[in-house]
Amino acid sequence: MRLLIINGPNLNMLGERDPEHYGGDTLESIEKALSQKARELGCELIFFQSNHEGAIIDFIQKETPQSDGIIINPGALTHYGYSLRDAIVDSRLPTVEVHLSDIHAREDWRSISVIADVAIEQIAGFKAESYSLGLIALTDYIRSHSE
Ligand code: DQA
Repeated sequence: MRLLIINGPNLNMLGERDPEHYGGDTLESIEKALSQKARELGCELIFFQSNHEGAIIDFIQKETPQSDGIIINPGALTHYGYSLRDAIVDSRLPTVEVHLSDIHAREDWRSISVIADVAIEQIAGFKAESYSLGLIALTDYIRSHSE
């Protein structure tokens, strides 16, 4: 099972960025912990981060044919990234949307996601743990839908 782990704008700054909402982990340490979890779950992870919506779309289009699913923290693109949403739909890959913070308990505009209804699940508010919960949800989903 080959999964794409995608992070959008500003998530390269984790560790320095608003630790009250996002926790103290860097993206590198989150990816390291996820790789460990992936070994336990028997899947391969391909990591990508970009501050540019088009670069994320190029990555999804390039990697889709050889991949089985997506875990994405779209950052602020969550709230207005319609071309990212279209790329996820076009990929036809099961996608889990994850957020470090609880987007439903912050500013009103953050509770709107243009990705949520094309994702199989939205996991928000567990800081770095959101990613490993997302990985468990996605691998379960893929396994139960491939039998
Ligand atoms: C975020 C929430 C978004 O509203 C914000 O723009 C981010 C991070 C999160 O992980 O909590 O960049 O996606």
